[in-house]
Amino acid sequence: MVRTVECRTELAIPLDEFYSLCDRAGLQSEEDLEGLVPALKQLANNSQFLEQYFCDYLKDLSEPEHSFLPPVFMPRIGESYIFRIVIWPVIDPAERGNQLLYHYPHNHDVGFITCGYTGSGYHTDIYSFDYEHCTGLVGEEVDLEFQESTMLPPGKIMQYKAGTDMHIQYPPEELSVSLNVIKREARKNIVECSFDMDKRTVMGHSIKIPVQESVFNAVCTLGNENSKDVLIDIAQRHPFMRVRAAAWHALIEFNPADRDYLFSKAVADEHSHVRAYTDTLKRNIEKQELALASSQ
Ligand SMILES: [Fe+2]
Repeated sequence: MVRTVECRTELAIPLDEFYSLCDRAGLQSEEDLEGLVPALKQLANNSQFLEQYFCDYLKDLSEPEHSFLPPVFMPRIGESYIFRIVIWPVIDPAERGNQLLYHYPHNHDVGFITCGYTGSGYHTDIYSFDYEHCTGLVGEEVDLEFQESTMLPPGKIMQYKAGTDMHIQYPPEELSVSLNVIKREARKNIVECSFDMDKRTVMGHSIKIPVQESVFNAVCTLGNENSKDVLIDIAQRHPFMRVRAAAWHALIEFNPADRDYLFSKAVADEHSHVRAYTDTLKRNIEKQELALASSQ
């Protein structure tokens, strides 16, 4: 469950010192993020650093077509952590359908701590999600339990656990900024999902992989044995389970002669998402073949 973490220090530190504290922390697990709460609070107490950071950012904007839109900045990617600055704009309720930032029920595949820096802070409804019993396939029923409705005003620090903490954010009354420290993961073991709150099902995934899917299909269409071996390697070893599922999908679709072998390898994946994905694919292919046979 999301925890609000008490930290009363009034000390303020510059960005460089914050980075050295994060570098020295050497996060091994998401629980270790709690050790960085004082550092995050002390950075949030520094009322000057963000203005300086944005000024430096703007000075580098030489490309006329550069967009100001991305509200997420990642000024520091350390070995074990990512430091993010997130801007939460005020959005007219009439625009609700046009943006993904808010009204978007989702969990995260990483653990993180977040601190309100400026502005009134976004509102959020928090639920716990039984992610360990969910493969993350679109349409799958999910178990969500409401925990609390709260806000992220300046100075408040909250710790989100990977997988289990799901929330919906609502626009703040005034433009707000939050600071995050995210635990970096070399291998993704948790499926991040968005949810249909009426049906209580998985609606989709925030992380899109259209490039990988297109390349996999292109390689299979154009491919030879060499590219097939490369794809099998990705399907077996890629650290992101959804990329492995997409690679198996392309291999199975474009290599009908090897389907039994490929299915047997795919269903041995360590992650339930890949196993469930391939199992569904297998049943769909069998259904299509049956329908084709009965129509002839
Ligand atoms: Fe979120």
